[in-house]
Amino acid sequence: MGERRHSREGPPSHDGEPPPIASPPRPQYVLEDDEADAYTIYSVNTQHYAQQRSIYHTLQEDCETLHSTQSLYDGTVPYFDINGRRYCRGYNMPNDEEEQTRMQMLNAIYYNLLGQRLTTVPLVNPKKILDVGTGIGEWAMAMGDEYPDAEVIGTDIAKIQPTSAPLNVFFEIDDAEEPGGWAWADEEFDFVHFRYMCGAFMSWEYIYQETYRHLKPGGWIEVLDFDDHEPIREFLRDNTSFPMWLHAIMEGSQRSGRPRTVVHLEPQSLEDLGFVDVQSTIVEIPTGMWLEDEQAQRNGKHFLVNTLCGFEAICMRPLAEYMGWTAEEVRDACERVAQELWKLCLDPVRSKGFAFKLKILVGRKPDGPMAPQDADVARPATVTESTISNDKREGVESEPGVEITVDRERTTG
Ligand SMILES: C[S@@+](CC[C@H](N)C(=O)[O-])C[C@H]1O[C@@H](n2cnc3c(N)ncnc32)[C@H](O)[C@@H]1O
Repeated sequence: MGERRHSREGPPSHDGEPPPIASPPRPQYVLEDDEADAYTIYSVNTQHYAQQRSIYHTLQEDCETLHSTQSLYDGTVPYFDINGRRYCRGYNMPNDEEEQTRMQMLNAIYYNLLGQRLTTVPLVNPKKILDVGTGIGEWAMAMGDEYPDAEVIGTDIAKIQPTSAPLNVFFEIDDAEEPGGWAWADEEFDFVHFRYMCGAFMSWEYIYQETYRHLKPGGWIEVLDFDDHEPIREFLRDNTSFPMWLHAIMEGSQRSGRPRTVVHLEPQSLEDLGFVDVQSTIVEIPTGMWLEDEQAQRNGKHFLVNTLCGFEAICMRPLAEYMGWTAEEVRDACERVAQELWKLCLDPVRSKGFAFKLKILVGRKPDGPMAPQDADVARPATVTESTISNDKREGVESEPGVEITVDRERTTG
């Protein structure tokens, strides 16, 4: 681990684990049995994982638990309950078991969307990788397996990572918005990764500045988030519940200080800070019974189910805490919108052309070694300059139904 430059306080002390939370019954959007397998993509190498060690590779030198016999993982993170969901600090999404399961499913979906790859950036022999907001840590662990010579560090405000991990993967409780800057040394990382962090931060500018400072020259940033509003808004334009619900979520997240927007995915936000080779990519996830290709239909259905199951996670806190909605009002609204979206997707005529979108923004800190042309560049399933259904070019393995639009040309500084 790199030398730490800033003095930090340890995580706040905590009176023990939160009381068990009684989850209310949730709507079920059922997948067929044979689809369940799709969620297990990383087969666990038991020999590798059997070499367990403490989840913290190094306790922070100045951490208050340094001389304590209590592990940081023994319950040092305070959680609280809002209407049956478990939260941590100012983050608007829950981190309970239900949400962790959804994260796990999403992890498999991303992997498929990127063409069985973990990233789209051209990594060459990376030595140090940071995954900010690592969640259940699946991506960090898979990167640790793929790059055994690299040290992979996953940070999060919630302690929801597994207690055993590949030997080169380390998890830390860390708030990326902690005032005073990240505690890593400058120019420490080859790659900094953010996935599904929409609505997590008060200032993406601060986060990007810190990323830039802590990347090595030539190091890469990658940011992935779903643009889940715009396509639904267009297809549910005749639905009266959706616009009001969405507006309330946006307003609530705005009031919380953590707007749930995707403006951080604009290339300008990286270019303004000096990043080069900035590229924005849209991966489309066509969804609905209008798709003829079975695999494409299945991909879309997996994502749809995940989205529907995530409605409450997305909106409970912003609506209950910042907009004054009761738990019942929130759940009713989620149910109404989910039913409408589900019905739309089952209708081959109304849903024609419907697709969710995953946006990916990458950039490179200048002045470092460029990736060699023949580097093993991770590529999503299909890449063209305009949206296409399936890329039939030689050597490009395409995932049926996964479509990618490259928004803009690379900009090189
Ligand atoms: C939606 S989850 C995504 C997890 C993971 N990146 C993935 O794609 O599976 C967002 C994660 O960010 C964490 N998080 C939120 N705010 C954070 C902050 N300020 N610093 C570090 N992690 C944060 C949350 O606890 C949560 O685990």
